[in-house]
Amino acid sequence: MLKAIQVGVGGFGLSWFELLQSYQQAEVAAIVDPLETNVQAALKRANRNVLSFDRLAKAIEKVEADFVLIVTPPTTHADLAKTAIKAKLHVMMEKPLTDTLEEGKALLAFTNAHAQKVMVSQNYRYHPQIQTIKALLDQQVIGKVEYGDYYFNRATRFGGWRDEYADILLQDMAIHHFDILRFLLEKEAVEVTAASFRPSWSWFKGMPNAHVDILFEDEVRISYTGRWAGKGRKTPWNGELRLVGEKGAIELVDDRVYMYKGEADEPTEIQLQTSLLPDRLLSLDAFVAAIRHDTVPPTSIEDNVKSLELTWAAIEAAKSGKKWTC
Ligand SMILES: NC(=O)c1ccc[n+]([C@@H]2O[C@H](COP(=O)([O-])OP(=O)(O)OC[C@H]3O[C@@H](n4cnc5c(N)ncnc54)[C@H](O)[C@@H]3O)[C@@H](O)[C@H]2O)c1
Repeated sequence: MLKAIQVGVGGFGLSWFELLQSYQQAEVAAIVDPLETNVQAALKRANRNVLSFDRLAKAIEKVEADFVLIVTPPTTHADLAKTAIKAKLHVMMEKPLTDTLEEGKALLAFTNAHAQKVMVSQNYRYHPQIQTIKALLDQQVIGKVEYGDYYFNRATRFGGWRDEYADILLQDMAIHHFDILRFLLEKEAVEVTAASFRPSWSWFKGMPNAHVDILFEDEVRISYTGRWAGKGRKTPWNGELRLVGEKGAIELVDDRVYMYKGEADEPTEIQLQTSLLPDRLLSLDAFVAAIRHDTVPPTSIEDNVKSLELTWAAIEAAKSGKKWTC
């Protein structure tokens, strides 16, 4: 059983902590969070003895561990990851990799100079809907994807650090969808044009809504619309997706996957893949396997910096109003 120090037990960290209570391959030996109320809320849910600290450095001094799980606001990711790597601990961290692309590239260089595994948990890749679409694409059921649409529409009031971000949709949410696209298409973005905006009623101070046109390698065109201060019919967190190829189309609507053969108007619903573990534990499984077998995890920092690059291309394109070449 691997031992972890979990850093950050706020909104998402608490649910990570709960998930890990039943995980077979790793256990949380200590938690780190400067906010005592959050620490106490987590400790109440612990089914074993867990130590607590207000700083990662202190936990590293006192606790034997194999890896650090970082579930803190993005501004803290780079420093926390470096502290862990310096102490020869592997790192699993929440998206986005870092707060800026510059920090992400610097952390990649730092990681490359060390032996530790660093992986970002892009858990959406492990959602059954996304795995099902990936399997269909791998079977070439629609042939080569030539274009697609992605649509996300929610109204979520988090409060806290998200309200302060300049490009909150692109940095905190669209990065999931961009990573899904990279995963499904197995291609990188080449050119990006984008516009982001803030509707008058937005509770986010930054831009919660955006349109992004992405040209991927091999001339694959994706049109992305994301709204986090949206009105009207809401989409699930995965959003809605249509991928179109010579032999048909695949659609993700209301978290159900449909296949349209050729020019057919009527779809066939595709049964979703099943798994014994929830998405985040599948992601953690991949990380644990990479540690055990000394392999590169699927959403390693090397891979993930490309999702951050795509996000940054969209941010820069939106800011400048110009086409961004990746
Ligand atoms: N993958 C997903 O679906 C998903 C969903 C939600 C959040 N997230 C990610 O999880 C991370 C945390 O988000 P959240 O919603 O839980 O935020 P949050 O604000 O609810 O919680 C963050 C916690 O980190 C603590 N913290 C801050 N700085 C710290 C430090 N230096 N050391 C230790 N603890 C520190 C805070 O006190 C707080 O308890 C973010 O990167 C976010 O993008 C991912």
